[in-house]
Amino acid sequence: MRVPILLWLSLAMSSLADPAPPPLTFLYAVNLTFNGAGTLNIGQTAMGRRVAYPISGGTFSGPLMSGVALYGLDWGLTDNRGVFREDTIYYLYTNDSAVIMVRAIGIGRNVHHTFETSAAKYMWLNNVVAFAGSRSVVGAVGLDVWQTNGTRAGG
Ligand SMILES: *[C@@H]1O[C@H](CO)[C@@H](O)[C@H](O)[C@H]1NC(C)=O
Ligand SMILES: *[C@@H]1O[C@H](CO)[C@@H](O)[C@H](O)[C@H]1NC(C)=O
Ligand SMILES: *[C@@H]1O[C@H](CO)[C@@H](O)[C@H](O)[C@H]1NC(C)=O
Repeated sequence: MRVPILLWLSLAMSSLADPAPPPLTFLYAVNLTFNGAGTLNIGQTAMGRRVAYPISGGTFSGPLMSGVALYGLDWGLTDNRGVFREDTIYYLYTNDSAVIMVRAIGIGRNVHHTFETSAAKYMWLNNVVAFAGSRSVVGAVGLDVWQTNGTRAGG
């Protein structure tokens, strides 16, 4: 197929000169609470300092989904350079009775989220990769969760 040279040039130049940042769509803010019960200090392992922190509950709220965090576990690692590496599963329960499992993996303040659910209304979440930045909240861990690629239903 022949592509007109000017079109080809402008496509090539726009992809080189103008890498667009991925669109982000706000999904929800979540406050995860840790009441300390069941905290397990595994200690200094070959990977770093490992502590398992049970998540005792929480709340989340966004334009398309809101409800409570049921529980979860953060078995994060503080690596050999003192950087905390989050590794978490938590369960959301929406205000319309769907359970959504959330896997959150992060380094420092940057956290990656993926989702698993069987609820028809939230099926689109299974295809979402989200970025979360942490926020300081008294008495909780606050995260603002943004869907990457800006698409919503069917993402
Ligand atoms: C999280 O906690 C902060 C501080 O108490 C509050 O302002 C915010 O509304 C809470 N967010 C959610 C989703 O519960
Ligand atoms: C449930 O959450 C959704 C999304 O935030 C909101 O639009 C809806 O009003 C909430 N429903 C109830 C009954 O609170
Ligand atoms: C978002 O992702 C979908 C499918 O994964 C893709 O078809 C679409 O082009 C993407 N949209 C943007 C704006 O990147």
